[in-house]
Amino acid sequence: MARIVAGIGSSHVPAIGAALDNGKTEEPYWKRVFSGFEKSQEWMRETKPDVAIVVYNDHASAFSVEMIPTFALGCAAEFPPADEGWGPRPVPVAQGYPALASHIAQSCILDEFDLTICNKMEIDHGMTVPMNLLFGKIAKDGHWPCPVIPLAVNVVMYPPPTGHRCFMLGKAIRKAVESYPEDLKVVIFGTGGLSHQISGPRAGLINSKWDKAFLDNLSKNPRKLVKIPHLDYMREAGAEGIEMVMWLIMRGALDDKVDEVYRFYTVPASNTAVGHIILENRVKSGRTTAKRKPTAKHKSTAKHKRAAARAKVERVRS
Ligand code: DHB
Ligand code: FE
Repeated sequence: MARIVAGIGSSHVPAIGAALDNGKTEEPYWKRVFSGFEKSQEWMRETKPDVAIVVYNDHASAFSVEMIPTFALGCAAEFPPADEGWGPRPVPVAQGYPALASHIAQSCILDEFDLTICNKMEIDHGMTVPMNLLFGKIAKDGHWPCPVIPLAVNVVMYPPPTGHRCFMLGKAIRKAVESYPEDLKVVIFGTGGLSHQISGPRAGLINSKWDKAFLDNLSKNPRKLVKIPHLDYMREAGAEGIEMVMWLIMRGALDDKVDEVYRFYTVPASNTAVGHIILENRVKSGRTTAKRKPTAKHKSTAKHKRAAARAKVERVRS
């Protein structure tokens, strides 16, 4: 069966993509940001997922005010980068996984989460920037290391979905993945945030205290986050801080208790706080032995593994 092994939270600041595309990664301002993802790229190379579900929001690239799906699932065979005003980013066309995506659509819709099925969709910085941060820079004529399934969430026009709805959708996605017969290792991204406001009198707002508490709770106590109303996100984390609800879809798709294996936080990038976290489920292989009762030896090995994972946790404070 397919299995979600880990969740990745990452900001998707477009200026990070521009810095990468224009060869600025070694400039001190940008090196500070990119260096926080070196370990993550190492982790990704070791984890070698078969497919990545990427929860992000479209920024009026694939959709517009004319059409605003709340949850849009990419079921296409490929997803070209969108032209966001300066031509499409020089990144490869992402390959989809139509069989698994259609299975997720069916399972979630029959589970009463009414996803919009997208058989043609371009993807913007909400998706391509976190993919670069985790997979590295890949030439336009190269290949991303694994196929992707985009899930575009409306956080652009009122009303976005609630944090609770997002968390529960994560659970439905997990159920969908685990009922897919093929042995696949799946990772799920939640992107956006952290605190930022792009326009208006509060432009440039960053609230590191809020961001840190969000990351702490995401890791250890996610149920505390699902009750946060939209107004609190916007008041505390800025108008675009509302993007953080998408991290709750990722978190809902994981175990209640997870191992936080990496964290990075820096301010600012453009006008935005950059946050990043990697959370692993404790049963990691697609070929699970979860149904077998753990013996005392298993339990102690698992305990050691968790302790080792905790020891790996790195906190980079701004
Ligand atoms: C900016 C845009 C985003 O979509 C985002 O998530 C963060 C920052 C920006 O324009 O700076
Ligand atoms: Fe955004």
